[in-house]
Amino acid sequence: MDIQQRLVLAFTQSKQPISGEELSHQLGLSRTAVWKHIKQLEALGFTFEASTRVGYVLRDWPDELMPALVKPHLAPDRAGALGHLILWAAERESTNVTAIQLASEGQPHGTVVTCGVQTGGKGRRDRAWTSPKGGMWFSILLRNPCALSQAADLTLLASLAVQRALAKHGVNTRIKWPNDILLNGRKLCGILAQMRTAGETIDYAVLGIGINANFVEQDLPADLQGKATTILSATGKPVYRPRLLADILAEIAALYRLFDEGGGFADIRDEWLAACATIGSRVEVQVGREIVAGTAIDVDDHGNLLMLLDDGTRHRVHSGEILFQARDVIP
Ligand code: BTN
Repeated sequence: MDIQQRLVLAFTQSKQPISGEELSHQLGLSRTAVWKHIKQLEALGFTFEASTRVGYVLRDWPDELMPALVKPHLAPDRAGALGHLILWAAERESTNVTAIQLASEGQPHGTVVTCGVQTGGKGRRDRAWTSPKGGMWFSILLRNPCALSQAADLTLLASLAVQRALAKHGVNTRIKWPNDILLNGRKLCGILAQMRTAGETIDYAVLGIGINANFVEQDLPADLQGKATTILSATGKPVYRPRLLADILAEIAALYRLFDEGGGFADIRDEWLAACATIGSRVEVQVGREIVAGTAIDVDDHGNLLMLLDDGTRHRVHSGEILFQARDVIP
C-alpha cells in the first residue's frame, strides 16, 4: 500500500485523533511530508480537522475503491481471499488493460485493480464501456483459475456473486444470460473476462466488472438511455462502494472455491436460475455473425442456453461462444 493509503488506513483504524508526530513516526516521514500527503488527500475529497493540541481527525472521505477504504470490510486474510492487494488510481484507460499488464509482470492471484474513471473502458464485442466518476470499475486477477472447458463457468459464477452482493445492499437485480445484471429490466452491470491460455489450462484470467453505481442515467450515452440504468437513478440512493466491492470479492471467493472442490456451474445452477430474468422470455442471441431468435426455455448444467425457435426446433447456445471472442484470449 502506498503512503497515502497507509495514512488513510491509520485514520480508519483509529478512533482517536492522531498527532502529526505519531503519523510521521508510523510512516517514517517528516512532519512536513505528512502534511503534504494530507493536502493531497484533501484534493481527492478527504476532509481532516486539525487541532494544534490533539492532532488530526478524519471527518469525511470519498467512497472511492481505494485499498485503505475497502480493506476494513474485507474478511481476514486467508487462502483464496481476493483483494488483499488493491491498486487504485483516479483514472485509468481500462482496469482490464492494467490487470493484464500486471499479470504479465507477475502480480499475485487475487490482485484487484480499481479506479475512479476509465477513459477507454472495454465492453464485450469490442464495444466501449462508458465509465464516469461514481461507477465501480474493477478487474480481478485469477491465476490458474480452472480448466479451459470451465472458463464460461467462471463468469457465470461472477454474475451470481455480484447479484448476491447487490442484494445485501438492498439492490435487487436479475441476471440476463449469460452474465449481464439487470435492475428494473435495464442493464446495471457488465462483466468482461479475458484470459491467457496454456494448452487446456488457463494461465490467468482477468475478470473485469463494471457497475453503474453512484451516477445518474443521464451520464450514460444517448443510445443507452432507456436500456441501461444506475443504482442512484433507480433507487434514489447511492451505495457505499468500498463495502460493496468487499462483499462482491467475498462472494466471488466463496463461489470460486467450488472449482477447488471439483465443482462448477452445476452446483449453483438452481440459485442462478432463480435469479435469472431470461427464462421464459423472447431472446435474440448473436452467435458469431448469426442472430438466433426464439424463447429461452432453460440453462443447462454447463451454463448453455436452451431455446425454442420459432419453427418449433430446439437450439442450444453455448455460453462460451457468447462470452469469449478470439481477442479475449491474450496471446
Ligand atoms: C459488457 O460489455 O457487458 C462488459 C462490460 C465490462 C466493463 C468492465 S468495467 C471494468 C473492466 N474494465 C474494462 O475496461 N471493462 C471491464
